[in-house]
Amino acid sequence: MGHGIAQISAMAGYNTSIRDVEQKFLDSAIEKIKWSLEKLLKKQKITDLEMKSILERINLTTDLNKSLSDSDLVIEAVPEDLILKKRVYQGIDENAEDKTFYASNTSTLPITEIASLTSRPDRFVGLHFFNPPQLMQLVEVIPGKETSPKVIESAVEFIGSLGKQPILCRKDVPGFIVNRIFIPLVHEAAYCLERDKTSLVAIDMAVKEKMKFPMGIFELADYTGLDVIHKATVEMYSRDKSVMKPNPIIERLYSEGKYGQKSGHGFYEYKKGQYERVNVTDNHIEQYDPVKLVAFAANNASWLISHGACDKKELEMALRLGMGLKAELFETVKSYGVESIVNTLRQLAQKNGSIYAPDQFLINDLESK
Ligand code: 3HC
Repeated sequence: MGHGIAQISAMAGYNTSIRDVEQKFLDSAIEKIKWSLEKLLKKQKITDLEMKSILERINLTTDLNKSLSDSDLVIEAVPEDLILKKRVYQGIDENAEDKTFYASNTSTLPITEIASLTSRPDRFVGLHFFNPPQLMQLVEVIPGKETSPKVIESAVEFIGSLGKQPILCRKDVPGFIVNRIFIPLVHEAAYCLERDKTSLVAIDMAVKEKMKFPMGIFELADYTGLDVIHKATVEMYSRDKSVMKPNPIIERLYSEGKYGQKSGHGFYEYKKGQYERVNVTDNHIEQYDPVKLVAFAANNASWLISHGACDKKELEMALRLGMGLKAELFETVKSYGVESIVNTLRQLAQKNGSIYAPDQFLINDLESK
């Protein structure tokens, strides 16, 4: 995601350096940025002149010291591996100037843990962007235990200056707001495939039609990258066993190198490396009722609310701006009836374990009826 974050920063007028370990990754980053800018140019969202100056504001380098020179903010977007992150932050600490704030675009790792690897946990914050950053409006801002109020304020201001909507995740929980719903939902959808003996397309059509997602859940998993999802799963699950039950299908696809759109294979097949939508509309496919997916997503959403990570309004905004949901999750719950959702969870808990036990927020909602 680094190239997308760099692109929107340069579009907002910031001089931006992209640093990677090999030139070939930088070449691929700038190619993707040019593709995206061409799209925006064709749609007259930017002019020729603007495209030229955006590209001029982006510097590509493999030299860490050069990339950090005179920098106000570093946004780290390396894979979700704490040992790798530790190495990267050691290098940053050795080269960064005193004035530089640190931010991580981690999708799941607690900010306090990453911040503790650095020399400046008080000037460290989570800035979690969504794919593609060029189009998704949300950025989650996650303070760690030691993040100073001034840094949180500057982070919120910076995200506003990119034209994005910041939402504060008030608890440093694995997965923050959106990924605590999205990643477990991919696993749950894979369980539904087996348990309900249905197909990828049937589930994806239902997720689009009934839950109002812009992409099917398997389509979205392939688009996000099954390597990203796998790593996020390992990190989330190792810290909190109650959030999901990892599905072996995802581990298998990951170990076979089937990462989704980027590798040409995932749940679906792709022409390698390009932005491509799979066709998940088929009139001949049986109708699937995604009640279990609605219940599972609503349960993790309820957990976030009852544990003080966000309120209901912030949660709905995060899902709308971070995942493009066209209906509020709790409106979908209402359309099924909260009693039916709680009963679905109770049945799932009886058959498949306590991770499905309905959260108190849903039970309170039911009891208030
Ligand atoms: N830059 C510019 N244009 C882009 C682009 C980019 N990076 N990516 C796609 N586009 C263009 C497409 O090429 C297409 O152009 P066209 O009109 O010329 O054909 C246009 O945007 C619209 O795309 P689609 O036709 O595919 O239609 P959609 O209306 O569905 O929009 C989408 C695409 C914005 C990706 C939408 O499907 C969506 O919101 N999907 C959900 C994405 C999501 O949930 N992201 C979050 C995942 S979780 C995450 O990232 C967190 C991480 O930590 C795991």
